[in-house]
Amino acid sequence: MAPSSQKGIVITIPILVLSVSAATIFLFFLLSPLSSPSPPTCPPSPFTTTAAVAGGSVSEEDTDRRISTSIDDIEWVKYQIRANGLHMRDNVLRKGINPRSRAQQLEDLNNFKGISHYEGSEASNHTALPCPGELLVEEHHSNYGEPWAGGRDVFEFLAESSHLTVNSRVLEIGCGTLRVGLHFIRYLKPEHFHCLERDELSLMAAFRYELPSQGLLHKRPLIVRGEDMDFTKFGSDVVYDLIYASAVFLHMPDKLVWAGVERLVNKLKPYHGRIFVSHNIKFCMRLGGNECTKRLTSLGLEYLGKRTHDSLLFNHYEIWFEFRRTKA
Ligand SMILES: C[S@@+](CC[C@H](N)C(=O)[O-])C[C@H]1O[C@@H](n2cnc3c(N)ncnc32)[C@H](O)[C@@H]1O
Repeated sequence: MAPSSQKGIVITIPILVLSVSAATIFLFFLLSPLSSPSPPTCPPSPFTTTAAVAGGSVSEEDTDRRISTSIDDIEWVKYQIRANGLHMRDNVLRKGINPRSRAQQLEDLNNFKGISHYEGSEASNHTALPCPGELLVEEHHSNYGEPWAGGRDVFEFLAESSHLTVNSRVLEIGCGTLRVGLHFIRYLKPEHFHCLERDELSLMAAFRYELPSQGLLHKRPLIVRGEDMDFTKFGSDVVYDLIYASAVFLHMPDKLVWAGVERLVNKLKPYHGRIFVSHNIKFCMRLGGNECTKRLTSLGLEYLGKRTHDSLLFNHYEIWFEFRRTKA
């Protein structure tokens, strides 16, 4: 093979060919990300920032995805209480703190209207959403004979059990004052939470106090007043991932519950969608013998069993009955 020679440097033809090829490949890789809009071949590295906490560290990715309170969360809060030397004490008058009952607070509000307020003609000019005093002092948080905080437990249980994502669509029958619904509304995408509720005062509490005070008006939940299990206002095409009735069916005539269930079957996502009913399913059991199973089967529903979940904050557990749709 004839060597190519220049000023004493000898380069053989194969070496020349190899060098040119290597340079071409190098240039191709160097320039291709600039000229091609195709996505990078490696996924972006996951968000791994961690916050050091006593009782374990939590990645932000975990906290974004997780719904239920973890053992680490509980250890963390217990540690904070210990570290700050906190104990329960009598809630009496002390510097800057003047404890009032709801009734006293409402009386104060009506009599004194708070420390700074507008008077006369200005009084009605400065409030975008004037809210009745009863709602401002949260009287409706005592409507159900149980701590309001239990609403969070219900949300966590139902969301985990139905493998909820932010894209899911949820219908609550009888959402009342949004004790449970608020947590779904906060979690889900706008317009993905629907509710049918009959009680006017509860709906006032939901619209005039809970949604604005929680900063959730932008989530535009579809809440409809009604008591006849008529779901036409929710649209004919909507398909729910979760339909639930928390402490509601036990207050309704069996006939009405069945009418509602029949209308809802086609609105439940087949197989993966879930219906959850709390407390009891007497509307079913009262049919006697095997009749409940037969009726459910004829509707294309299957009873999956009884579940319980514990409260985070007080000695309480709730019973739930789970159903799914067996036909597409
Ligand atoms: C005990 S509260 C429970 C409220 C809410 N689900 C919760 O767990 O916080 C029962 C609710 O069911 C509502 N309700 C009862 N019968 C109803 C019906 N036929 N249609 C719609 N809502 C009804 C009541 O007005 C009330 O708000």
